[in-house]
Amino acid sequence: MKKCVCIIVGFGPGMGLALAKAFGREGCALALLSRDPGRHASLLAPLDQESFTVRTWAADAGDEAALTAALAAAERELGPAEVLIYNALAPTFLPPTALKADQLVADFRVNVAGALVATQRVLPGMRVRGRGTVLFTGGGWAFQPWSGAASPGIGKAGLRNLAQSLAQELAGTDVHIGTVTIAGQVQAGTHFDPDKIAQAYVTLYRQAPAEFETEFIYD
Ligand SMILES: NC(=O)c1ccc[n+]([C@@H]2O[C@H](COP(=O)([O-])OP(=O)(O)OC[C@H]3O[C@@H](n4cnc5c(N)ncnc54)[C@H](OP(=O)(O)O)[C@@H]3O)[C@@H](O)[C@H]2O)c1
Repeated sequence: MKKCVCIIVGFGPGMGLALAKAFGREGCALALLSRDPGRHASLLAPLDQESFTVRTWAADAGDEAALTAALAAAERELGPAEVLIYNALAPTFLPPTALKADQLVADFRVNVAGALVATQRVLPGMRVRGRGTVLFTGGGWAFQPWSGAASPGIGKAGLRNLAQSLAQELAGTDVHIGTVTIAGQVQAGTHFDPDKIAQAYVTLYRQAPAEFETEFIYD
């Protein structure tokens, strides 16, 4: 069986867990990053039940040094990343008139800059091995802003733009850059069930280089 390592930045009970299950089933060892892994310890039981290799690391995705150190530790312990999924969000729910500029910038570090840092960290190894998939979790506010969440909307627009410029730069290589734009509220048992949405990431992951798509809009 091929050796696959999947790093998920932003592990939690919703998409994070669903993505871990989906990529564990693809044969990947799982490196799960969040600020407080202890808070998510109970989520590991279903992953253990399926006998996946799972390790957790603590890092704030908005802190470049901490994120880089955690990614380096994950690759040292599990091996080079074949899949990177950037799933973190700073959920500041404020309208633009109440949003402080400092908050917007701090959120942007998590919502966009962390994706750039993580991608730059794993990309050289992927290019050398001639294989790799980098997927960002997007959101419908990238297209249709909601005034109650100005900062996350700006973040999702930026993240989508980053995915597209990375994909342009890497066109013609064997590294696949994509974003899954979730245009609805994630909720188990609905069309936006996280396990169903996670299959969109698997679809992108399984694409051969000639088929690479940059965006999957899940609506
Ligand atoms: N939920 C929805 O309805 C919805 C809709 C559209 C798009 N999305 C997108 O889907 C993604 C996942 O959302 P979800 O609600 O399903 O969340 P989730 O995957 O259940 O959890 C995400 C995890 O990210 C971690 N995280 C947050 N900030 C972080 C940071 N600065 N550094 C490292 N880890 C961080 C949190 O753990 P710690 O607190 O321990 O750090 C949290 O548990 C997000 O990108 C979100 O924008 C969600």
